[in-house]
Amino acid sequence: MEYSYAFFQRSADYVKNIVPYVPEIAIVLGSALGGFADTIEDPIVIDYADIPNFLLSTVENHAGKLIFGTVAGKKVVCMSGRFHTYEGYDFEQLVIPVRLFKLLGVRAVILTNAAGAVNTSYRPGDIMIVSDHIKLTGDSPLRGKNIDEFGPRFFDVTYMYTPALRALAHSCAKGSDLNVHEGVYYFFTGPQYETPAEIRAVRLLGADAVGMSTVTEALTAAHCGLPLLCLSVMTNMAAGVLDRSLTSEEVVETAKTISTRFQNYVTEIIRRMDEVEL
Ligand code: HPA
Repeated sequence: MEYSYAFFQRSADYVKNIVPYVPEIAIVLGSALGGFADTIEDPIVIDYADIPNFLLSTVENHAGKLIFGTVAGKKVVCMSGRFHTYEGYDFEQLVIPVRLFKLLGVRAVILTNAAGAVNTSYRPGDIMIVSDHIKLTGDSPLRGKNIDEFGPRFFDVTYMYTPALRALAHSCAKGSDLNVHEGVYYFFTGPQYETPAEIRAVRLLGADAVGMSTVTEALTAAHCGLPLLCLSVMTNMAAGVLDRSLTSEEVVETAKTISTRFQNYVTEIIRRMDEVEL
């Protein structure tokens, strides 16, 4: 399907009629990381189903709500429940949430996700600040007719994971009780976890973590010039690193174990966001 600028404006107009302020920061919550949404003060909650031209979340542990409110004194909008290609969405549809953020006027986006650790020096419960990604599937969310109002047809992604925000995330890690690394996120479409051979292959290619989300949103943000920070929670060692099967229960369990510390970490990053010139 070909979208027009007006298509995206329709969602934004609906939300702007409900929310009486411009959120400064947009946060997307990954699988099982939804607890952060409960820390938002004075929440205004909008169901995805009520937003014209939006999408519906179909995955367990993904709520399906936009939550506006205050975190660390800053106005934010939080997506509790995100969309993935494995749900059957086309890559082109996955631009929708970040384009809504852009039209609402946010000045930065924080994407979070659960990921498998490919780097054998990482441990479950560690955090990886994404410095770059690898996506070798041919698809792009920016495929199709370009909407010039959002950004140019061909766009640079050299610094798409905003260096100043990565530096801020490192600085906030010092005061936290988390193990924080920086590395490369490798995108797989899922929904199956990877084979051990795939994990060995992507390690050779330079991957530190693997996941099934984030990259479509990140590319959409890069296209429309939104500063971006991406944080991956290592919920498990990737397939074949340990001699046993992976389960989605272990992904959810690890996410639960670190959820309060991770929420505090993200809150601290939001608190100190003004230190960064964007
Ligand atoms: N692979 C892909 N996606 C994931 C994983 C994984 O090991 N863990 C959490 N999300």
